[in-house]
Amino acid sequence: MSIVPFSPEVLQTACNLLAAGDVVAIPTETVYGLAADATNDQAVAKIYATKQRPEFNPLIIHFHSASQASQYVEFTELAKRLAEKFWPGPLTLVLKRLKDSESPISLLASAGLDTLAVRIPSHPIAQALIKLYGKPLAAPSANLSMTISPTCALDVQASLGSRVPLIIDGGATKIGVESTILDLSGPEPTLLRPGGISLELLRAEIADIRFYHGSSIKAPGMMQRHYAPSSRIRLNAQEKNNLDEKMLGFGTIQGDLNLSPAGDLEEAAANLFRMMRELDAQLTASGVKSKSIAVAPIPTHGLGLAINDRLTRAAHSED
Ligand code: TXA
Ligand code: MG
Repeated sequence: MSIVPFSPEVLQTACNLLAAGDVVAIPTETVYGLAADATNDQAVAKIYATKQRPEFNPLIIHFHSASQASQYVEFTELAKRLAEKFWPGPLTLVLKRLKDSESPISLLASAGLDTLAVRIPSHPIAQALIKLYGKPLAAPSANLSMTISPTCALDVQASLGSRVPLIIDGGATKIGVESTILDLSGPEPTLLRPGGISLELLRAEIADIRFYHGSSIKAPGMMQRHYAPSSRIRLNAQEKNNLDEKMLGFGTIQGDLNLSPAGDLEEAAANLFRMMRELDAQLTASGVKSKSIAVAPIPTHGLGLAINDRLTRAAHSED
């Protein structure tokens, strides 16, 4: 059994594994991460192998504080302001790497780019581990590539199982969708991925935010199939098409499960991946020929933007 509840001893075990170049699954406030020493190329390679990622997408690098991150990246005035406002928390900033930082981050972790995606998680276990380990951790979501991100320790075990020597159990994640990624390395602030910090909150700090559209190496996380369950996803549904279909409700639109009967988008984000997994599993277990999940319309404000982004990707799945 690789799931272990949090304790000071398990943190030390995790540090030993990280120092030996191994991976460890850890809770963050967004989703569970598959962490490895970001300065160790072999360890970073192990992340890709464990997740079975087809390509070397750049990974988010996790630090315990902005001051630790400032040893590796350049902070612009805007980056400083956003860091003060939103860190620790679910905002990832893409910043220029310092030319000659003393302990370099593995180039494999940033896919050879001259920038780094920097995140300071607020989860106490993630914080404690990064502080104790002392070096930054690369950590994508702790699931097989192309599958739904894990929001509890059992999700990680179901997806990665014995491939991970240690899963630290920190209970269900609070936010439930990944961090917002904002690129500050170019001339204009650019939103690469909507997530746990809403666009409204960002816009209160920055007047002009560009949206990134496209599929270059800049944001391979934008790959459409990234979040696909095995069932077909039918969006903006008012009701089921047929008896075999499962329905994910929201607000007053009922379903087999409801993301938030009260219509609360934060509650819906926290429930999203768990409920998609659950309906997907129910359909698989029932043995129906064509598996389909209908999803009620979700407003696009607040965390609704991130929820719709993940749902759209799931819906565009090829198979
Ligand atoms: O909530 C989260 O952010 C979770 C938890 C575990 O912290 N982590 C996560 O990490 O989602 P990851 O590594 O899966 O996120 C990768 C995304 C990709 O879409 C990638 O393109 C983008 O971050 N990214 C990483 N480095 C980048 C860079 N230098 N420039 C642009 N995008 C980058
Ligand atoms: Mg992921």
